[in-house]
Amino acid sequence: MRIFIDSANIEEIREINNMGFLAGVTTNPSLVAKEKRDYHQVIREIAAIVDGPISAEVISLDLDGMLQEAEVLAQIHTNVVIKIPLTATGLQAISILSKKEIATNATLIFSANQAILAARAGASYVSPFLGRVDDNGNDGMILLNDIVTVFDNYMLDTEIIAASIRHPMHVIQAAKNGSHIATIPYKVIKQMIKHPMTDAGIEKFLRDWKESM
Ligand code: G3P
Repeated sequence: MRIFIDSANIEEIREINNMGFLAGVTTNPSLVAKEKRDYHQVIREIAAIVDGPISAEVISLDLDGMLQEAEVLAQIHTNVVIKIPLTATGLQAISILSKKEIATNATLIFSANQAILAARAGASYVSPFLGRVDDNGNDGMILLNDIVTVFDNYMLDTEIIAASIRHPMHVIQAAKNGSHIATIPYKVIKQMIKHPMTDAGIEKFLRDWKESM
């Protein structure tokens, strides 16, 4: 499973990218709004840091608006992937963009049916929102597993991004369920790195070392 960061914060992205495992970035309108900066400039800076797909979402809900935004975003960098919400219009936009070889990420996926429609329309990625499924009293991992099974059955090329990850167990479960990618918030990546026994082990090694001096 490849690791993406779900963030629009340049410092977070740079810090995590320096650790060598980062394969891409996803943003969404809420994450970009938090930064209070020019949207296109943020995407430009991320693309200059991370050598991998960078998802940038359209805000428009109508087809012309989606396509216009997509064209502008796609020109920022060849790694930009256009994130499009899974609506009937979104499917049209995905289909048109895929014919122009512009990569797309179908977002706000809450059912395997939505995922298969996005894949058949030509989406490069689908993003099931695991945490938000859990928030609603259902099991996001069942959704992920259903999508993995359906895509495997028909050897679909579309890659699955486990999104709306809320804690380290989500990451392990996404990997065990065969997700191609997990997009993970900065805080959860930091939680994945840290283990109290690693810290205790370092402390003991250093104590023993000093005592032997
Ligand atoms: O970027 C999309 C997704 O990861 C959002 O997560 O935590 O707002 O449900 P969350």
